[in-house]
Amino acid sequence: MKTNVELIEEAKKTAQNAYCPYSKFPVGACVLYESGNIYTGCNIENSSYGLSLCAERNAISTAIAAGEKSKLLKIAIYSPKSKKCFPCGACRQWLQEFEKGQNIQIILEDNIEGICLFNINEILPYSFELI
Ligand code: THU
Repeated sequence: MKTNVELIEEAKKTAQNAYCPYSKFPVGACVLYESGNIYTGCNIENSSYGLSLCAERNAISTAIAAGEKSKLLKIAIYSPKSKKCFPCGACRQWLQEFEKGQNIQIILEDNIEGICLFNINEILPYSFELI
């Protein structure tokens, strides 16, 4: 299993591939599954701004397209333009979709505090669920 530091390093590397000519705000994400597999994603923008894809959703989409079936355990998110790069509301809801009691961990890096850990239930309380 990759360590939290290694997952942040993967997110950092992937942020370098971001396509963000409009915001100039690169983001990289790396998801870790119970299988030990990891998948990465970066943000991809579009001249029709609302069509832009966040790094987190790109990483999760890549995992699913690759056939990953085990539980999503962790996501590391990094932007060189942000202190702690918290996921947007839409990405929180995407993470919540794959929450199966494992309380998915969110790994962020802060240039002063270093690695900071959160979990999905903490950053998205009272989330929408179809019961
Ligand atoms: N962005 C992400 O990739 N993830 C987030 O959780 C929030 C924002 C991207 C979208 C856009 O390309 C850029 O950051 C600025 O909003």
